[in-house]
Amino acid sequence: MLGGAVVATKALNPTPTTTTTTATQLGPTMRRVTLDIDGVKRDVIVDNRESLWETMNFQLGLSNSNLGCDRAQCGACAVNVDGKAVNGCTILSARMGRGQKITTVAGLATGPGVSGLHPVQRSFWLNGGFQCGICTRGFIMSTVALLRTIPNPTDVQIAEGLSGNICRCGEYAKVFTSVKTAAAELRGEKVTYLAKPIFVDVVAPAQPPPAAAGTSKAFDFATPFATIEDFDTFIEPLKKRDGILDISGSERTITVKWDPAKLSEQQVRDLLSSLGRAVK
Ligand code: FES
Ligand code: FES
Repeated sequence: MLGGAVVATKALNPTPTTTTTTATQLGPTMRRVTLDIDGVKRDVIVDNRESLWETMNFQLGLSNSNLGCDRAQCGACAVNVDGKAVNGCTILSARMGRGQKITTVAGLATGPGVSGLHPVQRSFWLNGGFQCGICTRGFIMSTVALLRTIPNPTDVQIAEGLSGNICRCGEYAKVFTSVKTAAAELRGEKVTYLAKPIFVDVVAPAQPPPAAAGTSKAFDFATPFATIEDFDTFIEPLKKRDGILDISGSERTITVKWDPAKLSEQQVRDLLSSLGRAVK
């Protein structure tokens, strides 16, 4: 994915990207939301104080935006919400479950290789509008938002449109070139880049075998685990039980996928209880 690596050092705590949650009582600071990220709807339970960046990385395992300052100053974490660039480190996930369309840099490309990139991605790539890449995903998302409303921006409009993004490597001159080239391509003009594109036959990655069919459900533990390590230890023997297809979750919740030909929901609940962790 164009745009560099995630720089967070906190441990990831991925939970499934598609879950069905039960209508159970949530704690006073918790909220159940459906996040529409890059066209995929994801049901998650979030803390009212949790940022979109935290939910994407720690709950959903989506490393689609970088974290720089974590205080709305650098724009490295920018994603688009309903077409507008926002800082993922600052916007709260609990406010995002009302049908808003969240787009990350991973949702821009339409195919493999350079030719499959969004024109803005291609332009940053082939014009060298980056150096270390930490800021690049944010610049790309802000540029996409800018060109959506201003197809032929002036230098001043580009400076204003990208004023929330900071590049510590100082690649601003090539960022401007990248924005202008992308704008021209989006207007249908023929463009050239500072670097020659190298097109190679890109073989689409082999599709993984279809996941085993099963019934999936998220449960809240009656008594949460103290740490995620305790949860990991708990699920190891559970994964080997006949009829259990997949397990994920966190200290508070567990999502179990089981073979309905072998187990019923009640049997899954009984199994969890017999292992000392009743669920609501
Ligand atoms: S990490 Fe969000 S603005 Fe800097
Ligand atoms: S390319 Fe390094 S911070 Fe922008």
